[in-house]
Amino acid sequence: MTSGLHDQFGRRIEYLRISVTDRCNFRCVYCMPLEGLPWLPKSDILSYEEITEVVRQLAPLGLRRLRITGGEPTIRPQLDRLVAQLRSVEAVEDIALSTNGVRLPELAGPLRAAGLDRVNMSADSLRPDRIAAIARRSTHLDPLVSATAAEEAGLEPVKINVVVVRGVNDDEVEDFARLTLVHPWHVRFIELMPVGELGASGMDRVVPGGEILRRIGTVGVLEPSTGPRLGNGPAVYHQFRGAVGTVGVITPMSHTYCADCNRVRLTADGRLRTCLFGDHEVDLRTPLRAGEQLAPFVHRALAEKPAAHELLQLRVGGLSALSQLGG
Ligand code: 5AD
Ligand code: SF4
Repeated sequence: MTSGLHDQFGRRIEYLRISVTDRCNFRCVYCMPLEGLPWLPKSDILSYEEITEVVRQLAPLGLRRLRITGGEPTIRPQLDRLVAQLRSVEAVEDIALSTNGVRLPELAGPLRAAGLDRVNMSADSLRPDRIAAIARRSTHLDPLVSATAAEEAGLEPVKINVVVVRGVNDDEVEDFARLTLVHPWHVRFIELMPVGELGASGMDRVVPGGEILRRIGTVGVLEPSTGPRLGNGPAVYHQFRGAVGTVGVITPMSHTYCADCNRVRLTADGRLRTCLFGDHEVDLRTPLRAGEQLAPFVHRALAEKPAAHELLQLRVGGLSALSQLGG
């Protein structure tokens, strides 16, 4: 018998990212093509009951932490229904949500009431015109209003993800960093992964984590921090002396986290992907709908989880949009 989910390299898998839709109400330049991305047919998308069944079957294998992603997960109707169902799976300790934040002012309360623990919000600019230019949609998103709504609903710790793109928003890193002086938020700067439309730019638009840290060093005295108490992902945290929040850098381009990668992904159409990049996946929807046990399929997927991804060699053919994978 296997105790816990381990891949062939001994990495323990207790964290599942669940994409509930491949669609999004934004078209962020670094994530989604403006058009031409075919949507999944509705019948291919797992129902909330099917997603919950996957989690129920993975729980005895060691699954403890969930993250709901998209596309943009909050555009799927009644997301609080899914949260409540997932909450009812006893082994599940932590349920987080990744969102672009647009709907948080209205949804933070109901999602919290349904059992959501916390949120990660994307925010790439604090300037309305720029937010619209990056998202390529007109939007009323005010990241400060959305983050505050999450905080007030108790969806803490609130993490804010900023994808830094040279020449697009890298002049705002200080403004984002300054937020942590007065808000108990965790602002994480993410190195751009140049895929999709920005693929051709190669490393030109990537701002390395070290450079980001140097820039925000003008805001205050930075000290190492353990970061938020929940969600031990790949970010390295710092804190300005006297600040209430923290700043983090996530550096997929200048480091690889693969050695202690603890995550797998469930796509909206029910494929279990063991790596963001490459074609490492196993279809769970077919056995699920046939009433079969999923464990053998999960073990097969894990046996094929690669040791490291191929992004650094820029051999990512076929990956047209991170939105299809939920980041
Ligand atoms: N590079 C880095 N992060 C990305 N994300 C999406 N596309 C990219 C990319 N090209 C991540 C970011 C964003 C979330 C929705 O997905 O974290 O905030
Ligand atoms: Fe949508 Fe998030 Fe991708 Fe932007 S980054 S297009 S909000 S999924």
